[in-house]
Amino acid sequence: MKLWGGRFETGPSEVFEQFSGSLHFDGKLIFADVEGSQAFARALARIGILTADECQTLVNAFAEIGREAQDPKYLDGASDEDIHTFVIRKLGEKVGALAGKIHTGRSRNEQVSVDVRLYLRASADTVLTQITELMSALLALAEKYPDAVIPGYTHLRRAQAVLWPHYLLAYFEMFARDFERMEQARTRINVLPLGSGALAGSGFPFDRQAIAADLHFPAITRNSMDVSADRDFALDFLYASSVIMLHLSRLAEDWILYSSEEFEWMTLGDGVTSGSSLMPQKKNPDSLELIRGKSGRVFGDLTSLFVTMKGLPLTYNRDMQEDKEPIFDAFHQTAGSLAMAKVVAESIVLKPAVPAAAAEDSWVVATDLAEELARSGVAFHRAHQIVGKLVLDSVNSGKKPGDWTGETLAAAAPEFKPEMARLLKPVEGMKSRALVGGTAPSAVSAALKEAAGRLTEFRQRLH
Ligand code: ARG
Repeated sequence: MKLWGGRFETGPSEVFEQFSGSLHFDGKLIFADVEGSQAFARALARIGILTADECQTLVNAFAEIGREAQDPKYLDGASDEDIHTFVIRKLGEKVGALAGKIHTGRSRNEQVSVDVRLYLRASADTVLTQITELMSALLALAEKYPDAVIPGYTHLRRAQAVLWPHYLLAYFEMFARDFERMEQARTRINVLPLGSGALAGSGFPFDRQAIAADLHFPAITRNSMDVSADRDFALDFLYASSVIMLHLSRLAEDWILYSSEEFEWMTLGDGVTSGSSLMPQKKNPDSLELIRGKSGRVFGDLTSLFVTMKGLPLTYNRDMQEDKEPIFDAFHQTAGSLAMAKVVAESIVLKPAVPAAAAEDSWVVATDLAEELARSGVAFHRAHQIVGKLVLDSVNSGKKPGDWTGETLAAAAPEFKPEMARLLKPVEGMKSRALVGGTAPSAVSAALKEAAGRLTEFRQRLH
């Protein structure tokens, strides 16, 4: 069955049929197609194209198709052009000629838009929920080791000491922005396109607001040509997913490093690691490596749709059928990665003594000393030089910060006061960074409280 056979003398070639068919991937839209079609049947009844009885017959038949589609084998062996054609054929098998009325004043161009919007709205909701679950796991991991000290890095060189919760809250902020970004994408997804026809607006006087209310869309599109041409809402979803994956990938990279034998700060649970088929000792962070790997795949999905849309003349072009696989893939990979990251976070056991020693053995306190000199009236440039010289002496003589005392400091430069030696311990210098956003224990415990409150608010915004 074709939805467009009349104008043709022969059917499509087998090669074209194979080449252009999309059922093997857009079959995922079957529930959205059923839901949108039920609302469309009710819209047709409101304008008198269907009687109330006919409408009920169609709505019931669609519901039956929805139930049958629970069977994962439902689409097996079908050779329809796409999911929309498949659903209408099934409708015909159930209700006969009446099925021919469902497409009155409707185009597949708007149907595909509404289906994808319904699919992406649900996908965004899943992702939003998962982001809050990961954020909650990060807070739990922070609260397990509230006082742990780690060296923070720039250029992957030890830079300044920070609290473990401060480090995790950095990711909390990233995922908080991701939550907002995905919410914004959802708002642009959540607009009803039906009533647009193929490109010029439907020839039937639908009450578009009523269709929108039926499908829980808070808004309707304003231009029919834009509807047929537009995939911005899908790009928004792909971009929001890509940034999530970017953040997950960096988190994965950190934890791959921190759990390595070189760092040895933490262990990952057996449940999220795998062994080697050859080397019996191996415990590999495959879960995190896959998250990192899948991030590239999702960026590819975004790029793919970007390039597909570039240069297309208005309005619909069949190129746009290529939107589906990137969308589905991005959703599955992002949802899978968020779930995986949460389980990894829950499995982490930190060995606080190791990063604490890494902080103490290096010169992460250098900035604290220089700033203390500046606070005592020394020009910062001079203070920087004094401490730089102290570090150079230490490096040359094999001394660690803990090998210096008040007396030896004062001997190294007259600007040093003996009591400044307390800053040779990383935890001391941290206390000065007590402003909002800093790593002082007071600031971090306030930040943890604020974060927990924000997470509660996010949870209340979930659909
Ligand atoms: N399978 C098509 C797609 O996903 C549906 C829209 C077809 N429209 C058309 N004018 N051929 O884009």
